[in-house]
Amino acid sequence: MNHSIIIREEKEADYNQVYKLIETAFLTMEHSDHDEQNLVNRLRGSKAFRPELSLVAEYENRIIGHILFTEAKVGNHILLALAPVAVIPEMQNNGIGGRLITEGHKKAGELGYKGCIVLGHAQYYPKFGYKKASMYGIQAPFEVPDECFMAIELVENGLENVRGTIEYAKEFFEIN
Ligand SMILES: CC(C)(COP(=O)(O)OP(=O)(O)OC[C@H]1O[C@@H](n2cnc3c(N)ncnc32)[C@H](O)[C@@H]1OP(=O)(O)O)[C@@H](O)C(=O)NCCC(=O)NCCS
Repeated sequence: MNHSIIIREEKEADYNQVYKLIETAFLTMEHSDHDEQNLVNRLRGSKAFRPELSLVAEYENRIIGHILFTEAKVGNHILLALAPVAVIPEMQNNGIGGRLITEGHKKAGELGYKGCIVLGHAQYYPKFGYKKASMYGIQAPFEVPDECFMAIELVENGLENVRGTIEYAKEFFEIN
């Protein structure tokens, strides 16, 4: 099955399917405000949005996964924030989330981004190279368990001179 799943850039025609997919994926998640689908809508209108970094997983003409990376700053450095990533419940644990993450990283590195941060499951993201952001001297702008706020270097030593508090796109803090 995995080989027939394609990862590609999201198109406008996908927006409705992506909205429903995110809503469904987060429905039963404990650490969720159940607003992730609206967050993605807001972020598409943000200056932090890079359409090349909104990716979907497609299987038999159906959107089954989505990932979004938006620009986030630490001082003058422009990094990326991964949020959210979602896979439809019936297709989870098949490596699709992993493919969205690794293919997103590859594309982001090609676009010149030096690093990415994520707030999420401390057992999941380290599989793809994330480490505690505090190890790089990067802090979250809010209280968060240290092991859940993570960062990855997208190019060698990409985070070497990056220190400080991450500034997310303002759309993360707006409500619908
Ligand atoms: C998190 C999510 C995107 C992962 O996608 P996926 O395609 O199911 O994951 P993969 O197949 O790439 O990876 C599966 C691994 O992730 C682990 N995993 C999946 N969901 C997890 C979770 N919520 N917490 C911790 N680990 C999780 C699985 O146990 C599995 O581990 P294993 O490889 O050791 O067996 C997907 O489960 C999802 O959409 N969840 C609901 C929305 C969500 O929580 N998004 C992330 C917000 S931080």
